[in-house]
Amino acid sequence: MQKRQLGHSGPTVSALGLGCMGMSDLYGPSDRGESIATIHAALEAGITLLDTGDFYGMGHNEMLIGEALRSAAGSQRDQALISVKFGALRDPAGGWAGYDTRPQAVKNFLTYSLRRLGVDHIDIYRPSRIDPDVPVEDTIGAIADMVKAGYVRHIGLSEVGTDTIRRAAAVHPISDLQIEYSLISRGIENGILQTCRDLGIGVTAYGVLSRGLISGHWQANTQSNDFRAHSPRFQAGNVDRNLALVEALRKIAAAKGISVAQIAIAWVAAQGQDIVPLVGARRRDRLTEALGSLDVSLTRDDLAAIETAVPKGAAAGERYATEQMASLDSER
Ligand SMILES: NC(=O)c1ccc[n+]([C@@H]2O[C@H](COP(=O)([O-])OP(=O)(O)OC[C@H]3O[C@@H](n4cnc5c(N)ncnc54)[C@H](OP(=O)(O)O)[C@@H]3O)[C@@H](O)[C@H]2O)c1
Repeated sequence: MQKRQLGHSGPTVSALGLGCMGMSDLYGPSDRGESIATIHAALEAGITLLDTGDFYGMGHNEMLIGEALRSAAGSQRDQALISVKFGALRDPAGGWAGYDTRPQAVKNFLTYSLRRLGVDHIDIYRPSRIDPDVPVEDTIGAIADMVKAGYVRHIGLSEVGTDTIRRAAAVHPISDLQIEYSLISRGIENGILQTCRDLGIGVTAYGVLSRGLISGHWQANTQSNDFRAHSPRFQAGNVDRNLALVEALRKIAAAKGISVAQIAIAWVAAQGQDIVPLVGARRRDRLTEALGSLDVSLTRDDLAAIETAVPKGAAAGERYATEQMASLDSER
């Protein structure tokens, strides 16, 4: 397995990470046995970075990962690095109720995560979004206290912009920024990526398949009753335009003998050695396909052809619905 280091201060991880969110939340029903088998297959293939959030399925995702780790082979379990997001508040109906990243909340969330995961430390701990009522310095300072106490190894950020990155990094070294980055979500290129590079911060890129939209498997008539039912890019009118981009990409992928998902993941990985794509595979067949992207090398001509097929800014619709866009510090 190829490796990449997350920033100057972060851990060295597999060049592809597994995002476990969809195994518990947001992408419709999932199969528990298949989810655990997928985590095991990822560890066996050499994936060392597992990403979760304490709010994914209200703790379900952490308990699932904990179960998968307990039943994994010892050496694979020991190599696994867990990245946890916290701070998002949920309600009993599964709704979203804002954010809480006060120092006392940091310690409380962390305590529950350690117990649910069944571990004595978390490798990378990060606020999922900025809490408008709490200065980021206070939140990062509270996590830094937990680093000193041995409960957290590294501090990460999620979906924040350049000012917040600089303020956070002034308090404690930051291993990586987790942010959406794909052929059709390229906002990071407008200053955020450069700021990370200036400060020696790595990037864990999520949504590299745009939630399945640019995976090559999504079709205009695919029914969804989940996150995607509310995502602007999947709405009638937009989805057809976005899938036309996918068809242009498919021609380039076919000429190289690879799949659309593989070329889309490989494109993100090709944007820099400091970037680690997180793939949201929920099944072993999807994981196998995603792992195939590690064997893809894109030439300068390939990258130019991809840019022509899917030019920057070509996507129809925003990457989140209006209310969620408003909570993205990275979009300010
Ligand atoms: N920091 C943040 O704000 C944030 C936000 C969202 C996610 N994340 C993290 O990033 C991870 C990845 O994000 P994501 O799940 O939205 O991204 P994604 O990889 O763009 O989308 C995953 C979806 O694409 C579909 N897919 C089709 N072919 C695939 C293949 N070969 N490999 C993987 N998926 C394939 C799957 O849907 P079907 O299973 O329905 O086919 C899967 O659920 C999450 O699990 C989570 O840990 C972070």
